[in-house]
Amino acid sequence: SRRYKIASIPADGIGPEVVSAAIDVVSKLAKTLKTFTIEFTHIPWGTAYYKKTGAYADENVLDVLRSYDAALFGSVGAPDVPDHISLWGLLLAIRGPLQLYANVRPVRTFPGTQSPLRTVGAKGIDWLLVRENSEGEYAGHGGRSHRGQTWETATEVAIFTYTGIERIMRFAFTAAQTRPRKFLTVVTKSNSMRNGMVLWDEVALKVSKDFPDVNWDKMLVDAMTVRMVNQPDSLDTIVGTNLHMDILSDLAAALAGSIGVAPSSNLDPTRKNPSLFEPVHGSAFDITGKGVANPVATFWSAAEMLAWLGEEEAKEKLMGCVERVCEAGVLTRDLGGTASTKDVTKAVCDEIELLGR
Ligand code: NAD
Ligand code: IPM
Ligand code: MN
Repeated sequence: SRRYKIASIPADGIGPEVVSAAIDVVSKLAKTLKTFTIEFTHIPWGTAYYKKTGAYADENVLDVLRSYDAALFGSVGAPDVPDHISLWGLLLAIRGPLQLYANVRPVRTFPGTQSPLRTVGAKGIDWLLVRENSEGEYAGHGGRSHRGQTWETATEVAIFTYTGIERIMRFAFTAAQTRPRKFLTVVTKSNSMRNGMVLWDEVALKVSKDFPDVNWDKMLVDAMTVRMVNQPDSLDTIVGTNLHMDILSDLAAALAGSIGVAPSSNLDPTRKNPSLFEPVHGSAFDITGKGVANPVATFWSAAEMLAWLGEEEAKEKLMGCVERVCEAGVLTRDLGGTASTKDVTKAVCDEIELLGR
């Protein structure tokens, strides 16, 4: 049978709670289906590691990850360390350098749960957000001069390259092609931003010619937030810059039901490097250690990881189990239920058990 080696990086906050739940569920799935085996190796990077060693991750972080087939990540960020230190120490030290340039964030309403929108059809929201994940506002270019003076100046330079835009645009058009509606919305801000955003528009038009079967349109990001709320059923696949899609993906998750169910895949579509899978949400300080974190976002992220590794059938089966558990009303507080992380995890494992009968 096929064997996979996965780096598990639970890190901070509710990260360890949801990653250990996902490891339980995926291990159970492998044992039940018997079509593949999967081995998770715990990697202790994160804030505790930083406090002990002075670094969020080992210096050879990229080589360590390259010795695995994929990585499952929890969340990084702690209340007593500045967020830019923790995030650039770990997560952002991986995404850009490994060129995981496509961040895929599907969003949908699960059975047994509801979108808070009155404007959404009976089936709820079903969108595919594609986030450029290697450049833009996250390029890391910028600096500060005259520190501490009232004339201090800081720059935060957004970098957009033709190559970077073209590859994510092709990825997004290709992704749109696989969806029933074959519809793509390109999000920019090419009214006030007259360089990089105009290049985005030009590349979108150029790439679109190679995808005559995909219908597409353009939105300015501010108006896009209104469209997401007022005409959610008019949207399908959405592509945008690193920062725009960071913001829109939290909004999308909340509109679909909860940030607690939103997964993300950080993909290297060339498959030169291993890809990294993680929930969209963060450390959730307000519920850390309470045992109430919704593990579904991490279950779904792990399911996407299985599909990326070639186990499409395992993904479908796992998602079926998660759907049945939601439909049965085993929901955490963020979805209006009373179940704990462990209750949901056990219910999904019980559903997996039934697959083997
Ligand atoms: P957050 O996503 O951690 O929390 C926002 C709200 O959503 C909170 O009320 C939280 O309780 C709730 N929530 C999040 N995940 C949930 C889940 N699985 N189940 C139920 N409720 C959930 O966002 P934040 O408060 O802005 O960030 C907290 C920390 O996490 C910061 O340090 C931030 O930088 C970091 N962060 C890390 C990542 C990552 O590593 N991928 C992502 C986002 C934020
Ligand atoms: C996300 C997170 C990260 C991002 C932060 C924590 C750096 O919000 O994955 O959505 O902005 O990409
Ligand atoms: Mn985010």
